[in-house]
Amino acid sequence: MQDKPFSYTIPYPGFKPSRVDNHLQRHLSDLKGQFSNEKAYQTLLKKEDVLLYEVYEIKRPEVEGEILMGISIVHPGKVGNEFFMTKGHFHTILGTAEMYYCLHGEGFMVMETPEGDTAVEALAPGKVLYIPPRWAHRSVCTSRQQDLVTFFAYPGNAGHDYGTIEEKGFRKLIIDRGDGIEIIDNPSFNE
Ligand code: F6R
Ligand code: ZN
Repeated sequence: MQDKPFSYTIPYPGFKPSRVDNHLQRHLSDLKGQFSNEKAYQTLLKKEDVLLYEVYEIKRPEVEGEILMGISIVHPGKVGNEFFMTKGHFHTILGTAEMYYCLHGEGFMVMETPEGDTAVEALAPGKVLYIPPRWAHRSVCTSRQQDLVTFFAYPGNAGHDYGTIEEKGFRKLIIDRGDGIEIIDNPSFNE
């Protein structure tokens, strides 16, 4: 059967697409071992398993030729001095790219390749970010009050490899220095 073209809207404010096939929510407990200050992580977790981010997915078949789309919303907050962020991943098919369009908020995309190249791009409304094949990516919300909202699109066959990041972490961290935001080397990165 042939698909028919379809459209949907992303309303402002709210950003929940008019078509949603899956609503994914990730809490603090889903990012075990990912924040550098383990003591701050455990203290916050004991208090509340807070919602870090959510994703509204528009489902398509996960095959070559399709494009998967959705809205990612990272909420403001910190674990110690590290901002709330997504788990981050490589695509299983490393040779697949992704694009992000920032709709709201402030933040960064932290990226790296398996070879150890790193890149950090600031995100602000109106900014389009192209992530070439091979680059792992993690969104970080650095606003104190506002959600970081992005629209993303990537190839249907990409798949997600979370394991590599869970094991090694990212090479760069985004932290709140008090008087500003700093990008630092991750002291506990596992080579
Ligand atoms: C898909 C993609 C985004 C993220 C979303 C949540 O390839 O990069 O849709 O999935 O921002 O982040 P993760 O998947 O790292 O929990
Ligand atoms: Zn991705």
